[in-house]
Amino acid sequence: MQKVIIDCDPGIDDSLAIMLALKSPEIEVVGITIVAGNSPAEMGFRNAKKILSFMGRLDVPVYIGAQKPRVRDYINALDTHGEDGLGESFLPDVPDQDIPSKTAVEFMSEILKSGDVSVIALGPLTNLAELIDTDLAAFLSIKRLVSMGGNFRSHGNCSPVAEYNYWEDPDSAALVYDTLYENHKKIEMVGLDVTREIVLTPEILGKMKEANPKVGGFIEKITYFYFKFHWEWEHIRGCVINDPLAVAQFIDPDILNGLEAFTQIETGGISIGQSVVDSMGFYRKDSNAVIYTEVDKQKFWDMFLKRIIKL
Ligand code: BDR
Ligand code: CA
Repeated sequence: MQKVIIDCDPGIDDSLAIMLALKSPEIEVVGITIVAGNSPAEMGFRNAKKILSFMGRLDVPVYIGAQKPRVRDYINALDTHGEDGLGESFLPDVPDQDIPSKTAVEFMSEILKSGDVSVIALGPLTNLAELIDTDLAAFLSIKRLVSMGGNFRSHGNCSPVAEYNYWEDPDSAALVYDTLYENHKKIEMVGLDVTREIVLTPEILGKMKEANPKVGGFIEKITYFYFKFHWEWEHIRGCVINDPLAVAQFIDPDILNGLEAFTQIETGGISIGQSVVDSMGFYRKDSNAVIYTEVDKQKFWDMFLKRIIKL
């Protein structure tokens, strides 16, 4: 079992990723840390609790982290995720939920030092940047760092060239990538090149509901808004579920394929938030990232459906 911290901003697809992680015997979720992103941090905290409650896993601790990006003003993505951040499902809050006094970064700092804990980051990288500031040794002890974010050959989803998680807090993303480079470490970038391929269609949802009405119904409730959003904005019949792919790749490294390259994140100007991948080696710098470019969709769906439907 691999120990994992899920750093996230739930978020519809973050919630699906948490569900997949909790149903995966290869993973022990030692904690969920929340960052301001899709939803403001306290809303993300309440949403994580709602998902844990549905999964019967309120034993997993949740910590609140950064309330805003490192430099930029905070812009939420409730237009995409609904006013409650969970697709306007308006699930009731879990009663008696205390906000822990320990912060997300304090928790990371404590637990990462062991060297056997990995991080799957599904939101802006603000918490990790704060960890670099406060406890570099803990950051460098992360066993494996998988981040849903960025894009290489694919276009962006917030601007022509930038993906939301890196666009929301480009300064933190840049610090994370630069620090990894300076310390000869790597991040795995699960970006839009591969996540765009993961479309939850009405047909797949229908099958899920048929096989497991409770779980399928729950997923329908939280994704309905996402379906509408994708149709209005991208004319996609179904919704792209980005975050579960990062969890799936963590579990089975054969799901994605890609290349290694020196990568930087742009922090200003018209391409703010863009992940600039030096795949041709212009800078002659060692790689600090594995950039995924190909996805075995069948493998992903086999894993996701088998595990989620069997809830
Ligand atoms: C990313 O941004 C959020 O909307 C999703 O949760 C995902 O992490 C995709 O760009
Ligand atoms: Ca997310």
